[in-house]
Amino acid sequence: MKVKKVIFVCLGNICRSPAAEEVMRRLAQAQGVEIELDSAGTYGGHAGDLPDARMRRHAAARGYDLRHRARRITAGDFDEADCIVAMDDANYDDLKDLAPTAEDAAKVVRMIDFAADTHGYDSVPDPYYGGADGFDLVLDLLEDACKGLLEYLKQ
Ligand code: 4NP
Repeated sequence: MKVKKVIFVCLGNICRSPAAEEVMRRLAQAQGVEIELDSAGTYGGHAGDLPDARMRRHAAARGYDLRHRARRITAGDFDEADCIVAMDDANYDDLKDLAPTAEDAAKVVRMIDFAADTHGYDSVPDPYYGGADGFDLVLDLLEDACKGLLEYLKQ
């Protein structure tokens, strides 16, 4: 596979993107696909934190162990990554602005575009200020979209 490294990006790097990283890790392992996976946030206020306890609990119920430590995305990440996956449109716009070159900007894609069933959403919605349902919705969307994304990355 040509793609060596993928970075998932949301706002805080404590809910959606660390979950996306683990969903993809399990899927890639199941398919025997070797790929480096990481995640980051466009906002650095939670840097060093474990994922949100609610996200960890909902992910654990599906067998995912979230242990990523939050960090802010840097311009240098574009050098190392082949694909940078934005959870929502604000993340997408921020990543496009941060990309050092046009070639780097072309690495940025939207997670929701790879879901077979978007549940009517046009992004992976931020669950931070909502209830428990939002965390399960995020995991449903991520499990679906990661399948589509992995097929895309294999091409
Ligand atoms: P995430 O969720 O972007 O999926 O990690 C959020 C985490 C923290 C905040 C917002 C969204 N916050 O405002 O601190």
